[in-house]
Amino acid sequence: MKKDNIALIGFMGCGKTTIAEALERKLGMKTVDVDAEIVKRKGMEITDIFDAYGEEYFRDYETRTLKAILHEKGQIISCGGGAVMRSENVKALKHYATVVLLTATPKTTLERVKDSENRPILNGNMNTQYIEALMKQRKKHYEAAADLMIATDNKSVDEICDELIRKTFGL
Ligand code: S3P
Repeated sequence: MKKDNIALIGFMGCGKTTIAEALERKLGMKTVDVDAEIVKRKGMEITDIFDAYGEEYFRDYETRTLKAILHEKGQIISCGGGAVMRSENVKALKHYATVVLLTATPKTTLERVKDSENRPILNGNMNTQYIEALMKQRKKHYEAAADLMIATDNKSVDEICDELIRKTFGL
């Protein structure tokens, strides 16, 4: 691995948090979830931050939190699904981390996120058509930010981790 951290990016429900936690056990690296760090620092749930201050405020907070996290080394960083929409986030990610894009089809994504109530972007939009349209809009940003890519559909957590380790470390 060329860089100091591994950052997982991708659309909501692509498995970033689950894979980061599994990798923590396999690689003995510390996991940091950017959303969880925002909740901790701000003392509010993501949905409440959106409701009280709006998306732009959340995005600024996300950028500051991500940059602070990236100054540490040896971490598996799980990013929020919208983090790659800001070029300054992508620049920082590329500089300090090997960036791994996890993908899933809209159908798999809906299956994984349908019971979630803490994803304000999907509130009232919990259907494959909306997910597919937003994914399409974000696709080029995800792909441009990524050093490598892993499709997660129909794969176990172990299979995804093994593929990631092989591709990241060339094992
Ligand atoms: C968002 C994804 C969420 C969270 C916020 C916005 C997005 O993170 O950062 O609700 O715009 O895609 P997850 O991808 O971990 O659900």
